[in-house]
Amino acid sequence: MRGRDSVADLARLVQDIAAEMAEAGERGEVASYIPPLSRIDPRQFGLCVAAADGSLHAAGASEEPFSIQSISKVFALTQALGKVGDTLWRRVGREPSGTPFNSIVQLEREQGIPRNPFINAGALVVCDINLAGHEPRVAIGELLRFMRYLADDDGIIIDEAVARAEQATGFRNIALANYMKAFGNIRHAPELTLGVYFHQCAIAMSCRQLARAGRYLMHGGLYEPGGPRVIPAQRARRINALMLTCGHYDASGDFAFRVGLPGKSGVGGGILAIAPGQAAIAVWSPGLDANGNSLLGTLALERLAEATGWSVF
Ligand code: DON
Repeated sequence: MRGRDSVADLARLVQDIAAEMAEAGERGEVASYIPPLSRIDPRQFGLCVAAADGSLHAAGASEEPFSIQSISKVFALTQALGKVGDTLWRRVGREPSGTPFNSIVQLEREQGIPRNPFINAGALVVCDINLAGHEPRVAIGELLRFMRYLADDDGIIIDEAVARAEQATGFRNIALANYMKAFGNIRHAPELTLGVYFHQCAIAMSCRQLARAGRYLMHGGLYEPGGPRVIPAQRARRINALMLTCGHYDASGDFAFRVGLPGKSGVGGGILAIAPGQAAIAVWSPGLDANGNSLLGTLALERLAEATGWSVF
């Protein structure tokens, strides 16, 4: 940390940021298109920093589970790359889309190949890879086990009410899966692939659990320094690069400009950000900005990156 190089200073900074966010007037709007998310209290704010030295610094509602939604796409991508390696990139691109997360417009022109694994279309192809001929519950069980291992926490669960609501209201996702099926880029029955997707989006985690689960991306693919290897170092670098360029959809440029860290947002109001070699950071505030990213979560990360000098730039 620049000018704040002690654990005590980091702990203090995290508390200060949470205190500032608790006072904020403008908090954004909670997602309304998935009914259980629309009932979440927008006054909540949680932050947890898992630092490279193994220390954890948390403030606010950092133990409160929230719907991680699209943040699950980072872990699902890691799982899929473990299964099929770089052949994944024959079915999914690696470019920012410049479109909203649930957009369909590029798929027709680009032969059913989604721009990147973090827009919904790309995440559906990733789910199709993870399904690998099994029942949806096998693929989702595997993802859950992986995330519990990463966080060293068996308390990570799927919120079944959220999963059911996603299924009942996910008409755009159903359209995306069927559209890509027509191009041959969804290999299973669309309803099976969608089943994996809706359940992974409904995973509930606290900031503390999420920050811990993200540590392998700060440690170049290692579980912890000197610990077991989760993924190759090159893969960790590449996932971070995709988070930086595509993790906030059509606001990815703005997030890089303001925060300067690889980050992945979800419409539940969570963001996972990685400061390579420094920290894995989870922040949650349910109110969203116009692009569907956490308004105060982004502001909190901006404050943290500024004070610590953790920007990758
Ligand atoms: O598929 C959806 O629309 C949601 N389950 C996830 C979208 C999401 O989190 C976008 N992120 N900001």
